[in-house]
Amino acid sequence: MTTSLDNALKNEIANYTAANPKSAELHEKATQFMPGGDTRNSIYWDPFPLYITDGTGTTLIDADDNKRTDFVNNMTTLILGHRPPEVISAVAEQINHGLSFPAPSPSVVKWAELLCERVPSLNKVRFVNTGTEATLNAIRAARAFTGKEKLVKCEGAYHGNHDAIQISVVPPLDQAGDAESPEAIKAFPGISRTSIDDIFIAPFNNIVSAERIIREHADELAAVIVEPVNGQCGMVPGTPEFLEGLRRVTKELGIVLIFDEVIAFRIAYGGAQDYYGITPDLTCFGKVIGGGMPVGAFGGREDIMSMWDPTNGGATVQHAGTFNGNPMTAAAGVATLENLTPDKFEYLDNLGESLRSKLRALFTELEVPMGVTGVASLFALQFTSTEVTDYRSFATNDKKLLNMMFIGLLNEGFLMSNRCAGNVSTVHTEDDVDALVTAVRNVIARIGYA
Ligand SMILES: Cc1ncc(COP(=O)(O)O)c(C=O)c1O
Repeated sequence: MTTSLDNALKNEIANYTAANPKSAELHEKATQFMPGGDTRNSIYWDPFPLYITDGTGTTLIDADDNKRTDFVNNMTTLILGHRPPEVISAVAEQINHGLSFPAPSPSVVKWAELLCERVPSLNKVRFVNTGTEATLNAIRAARAFTGKEKLVKCEGAYHGNHDAIQISVVPPLDQAGDAESPEAIKAFPGISRTSIDDIFIAPFNNIVSAERIIREHADELAAVIVEPVNGQCGMVPGTPEFLEGLRRVTKELGIVLIFDEVIAFRIAYGGAQDYYGITPDLTCFGKVIGGGMPVGAFGGREDIMSMWDPTNGGATVQHAGTFNGNPMTAAAGVATLENLTPDKFEYLDNLGESLRSKLRALFTELEVPMGVTGVASLFALQFTSTEVTDYRSFATNDKKLLNMMFIGLLNEGFLMSNRCAGNVSTVHTEDDVDALVTAVRNVIARIGYA
């Protein structure tokens, strides 16, 4: 199988290279000005990424005029698809009035109101420009509020690109230690030693071990940060037992519970906390809430968020940002939230479930060692016969098979993330789902399984 897989991948890459000469040329030029031609490692792939010129609805067009159905939606952001008319007209209207101002605008008030109304735990919210800044500020809030420094995060979870949290994201298994008491491993060189010293790693979806780790270090802990649906491991939902257990123990011990809903907000009208019926102390947002513009936000309990209140003698914690709550993002965010009505979530849930069950049926029929994880509109292909519930089970994925599927799907006219994760938007249909399932079948046939 290895040799035939190697040959199949070679063919797939040759076909990809032949079909995308302008992207190859652009990449060649890009390497002169950006390291590896890249400015966002998560969207690079070998031999070169596609250069996109247009996105409409579910369709992307690249520099070579190839059309593909997009199941990435800028990493789960574009929940209404590319260029939804309501969002485009709101942004166009704002362009007529200005791009950014050195003072708040009415649209930011509306945006905050819409978010606080729909997310159960959100008494107050603050806007930033990335999910990275959202988790950075939520962690800072927890530290300032509790007077403690240390954190617990889950193994295999990505919470953004800053030192405090770039730990044990995809740790090498030979360094990661015991599955029940994982080691804290720097994601890459350049992360400070203090970040390692200030964090403890818990296994995802294992409340017994997570609770033991939290109790052991309770006196030093400012926060437990968790992604209710683990994106990095393939949109793996937290079990209610795990998430409820984290809420119970953090509440008992006075530790701030942070939900990172940068991705998971899209699983229900009021976000993941609405879906699970759990109230975190703080929540981080990004992606969907900015309607396609750069965005992040963090918010939650009144007593914690009031540390930023500049009235009554000044804020305890400073928070600036030239583009925070800028009117362009606010306009896109308001239009998106206003269009994200409960019926849209029902549609997304049904379509996501249909996609996952059709893929599962395909893998059973073809008897291939593959699976599907996900919840609501989120899904990911898993290239293992092990059920994926956490980082260690995710690590059993066959990376070569994954790469073959990813490039194979590009050649079939579909874009997934380069980890073969995806999501549906409100403009995807059952026809798109069926076409994707056929494409996956075709790639499996080229691998030689069927
Ligand atoms: C769960 C989670 N948190 C935080 C981030 C960081 O967001 P951004 O890329 O906007 O900085 C991401 C990005 O993918 C994410 O998936």
